[in-house]
Amino acid sequence: MQNILITGGAGFIGCNFVRYILNCEPDISVTVFDKLTYAGRLENLAAVSENFGARYHFVQGDICDAAKVEETVSARNIDTIVNFAAETHVDRSILDPDAFVQTDVYGTYVLLEAARKFGNLRFHQISTDEVYGHIEGHRRSVENDALAPRSPYAASKASADLFVNAYHVTYDLPVTVSRGANNIGPYQYPEKVVPLFITNALESIHLPVYGDGQQMRDYQYVADHCAAIYLILLRGTIGESYNIGTGAEMTNLAMVEILLEELDKPRALIQHVEDRLGHDRRYSLDVSKILALGWEPDYTPEEAIRSTARWYRDNRWWWQPIRDGEFKDYYESVYGARKKLEPH
Ligand code: NAD
Ligand code: TYD
Repeated sequence: MQNILITGGAGFIGCNFVRYILNCEPDISVTVFDKLTYAGRLENLAAVSENFGARYHFVQGDICDAAKVEETVSARNIDTIVNFAAETHVDRSILDPDAFVQTDVYGTYVLLEAARKFGNLRFHQISTDEVYGHIEGHRRSVENDALAPRSPYAASKASADLFVNAYHVTYDLPVTVSRGANNIGPYQYPEKVVPLFITNALESIHLPVYGDGQQMRDYQYVADHCAAIYLILLRGTIGESYNIGTGAEMTNLAMVEILLEELDKPRALIQHVEDRLGHDRRYSLDVSKILALGWEPDYTPEEAIRSTARWYRDNRWWWQPIRDGEFKDYYESVYGARKKLEPH
């Protein structure tokens, strides 16, 4: 692993991973390939460019553009591809699934083809716990479970997982897949629930809790997720998938209580609103396989939420311009006409 292509590296997890791997591997050269959609932001990588200039290269491009992908793989002498590039927000996928099918499915196929054409390059796919769908009772998802996605976002990510596996079986492409639980931390676009609620709270705007707020998620700190991905690149078994999460879920209302307390904001900001269509009530990962590989998280979900709240409190320069821009129209389209519910 000397020349790594990190697609989607200007997004939330990607930019954290770029920092992580440049710090861990003194000789690695990183090429970020990113379309710079609303979620991809060069300011996420400004410090990387300053601190690691000689080992960091940025290409603006679409992973659906095979010519541009292949030109980059060839010119940068790439030996490893890690695919973070995706459309990632469930609520946007409900409004308009088209870009999800394009980028998450077709774009992954284009990258797999490039990996195959250039001599079967090492390929790691960043997937999500959402591919398993809603998990009943006390069960946890294990890596060999059947995929049962229920939102357009989850369906597109599950399709990509199937293509990655098919390229391993058919062409012997050296692949691994990781399925992460909900990540939180610095540089997450404030459409996702934790940064949305933190930034709303900091502006004393209501926090729109979908339905009864009893849905369960495993909120893991992004640096822990990055460490696990790096470990899979070093020691993962080719052809295998790995769940990544703390293994501890909490309800959305419990998450809200923690962040309000950390920011010293009142519970009166909580506003229950009409539920998300097809809302998955619970995700829950069995993480024994990644633990057995030698990884463990540094942050509990509560520590991750508190640390994230402090980062947004201290880094208004990053999120205020986002909230003042395109985000306003997005917010109106998702929340504007949404019915308010009585307190639960
Ligand atoms: P993000 O939305 O913050 O960033 C996505 C990045 O991909 C952006 O930089 C965007 O510009 C880029 N991109 C989008 N379409 C592209 C295209 N066609 N070509 C090139 N670049 C494109 O997403 P994130 O939260 O950082 O998620 C990264 C990956 O991790 C995704 O694959 C996502 O499915 C997966 N994942 C996310 C979470 C989470 O909680 N955020 C959890 C598990 C897995
Ligand atoms: P989200 O961050 O969109 O991630 P996921 O892909 O896991 O759905 O949402 C996390 C949880 O928070 C999920 O149960 C939906 C809920 N949620 C709200 O209650 N209100 C909101 O405004 C948003 C965006 C999410």
